[in-house]
Amino acid sequence: MPLYDDLKLPLSDEELSRRRLLGLVGTSALVAAAIGTGVSFLRYLEPAVLFEEDTRVGIDRPEDITPGTVLVLAKQHIYVVRTHDGFYALSSVCTHLGCMTQYQREQNEIDCPCHGSRFELSGEVKKGPAPRPLPRLQITIDRGLLVVDSSVHVAHDALLKVS
Ligand code: FES
Repeated sequence: MPLYDDLKLPLSDEELSRRRLLGLVGTSALVAAAIGTGVSFLRYLEPAVLFEEDTRVGIDRPEDITPGTVLVLAKQHIYVVRTHDGFYALSSVCTHLGCMTQYQREQNEIDCPCHGSRFELSGEVKKGPAPRPLPRLQITIDRGLLVVDSSVHVAHDALLKVS
């Protein structure tokens, strides 16, 4: 079938607008493909590295914290407890479904507002539904400062002894 152009016939307005539309669609597809390729290439050049938050938190000098003190580090989800013998740190994340617990100074216990679990200050479960004690976290002294590492769980009776 001969084309209009081969016969040198003048193109109708309808044919011209159809050709312009097809040209526009083709150009748009090429531009979209070029942008997609460019974005993929740039993402390929980016290093695929995951930067994790530092889990170590510097607290204070041990000699500045008196026995019986409970420090609540709400932002880091940590409790630091100073006993007469030393220090221990607890996660404040409830072992039931992960709510943030709250230290109740008057009752000297830790409560979970979500489903009513209650914990001893040692982290042991006083009342469920929490299935496990609050995890104890590693606490050390680094360059004279207490440092808690929230990524390291230790035994439930671990204590950093200080003189
Ligand atoms: S999340 Fe704490 S009791 Fe359910």
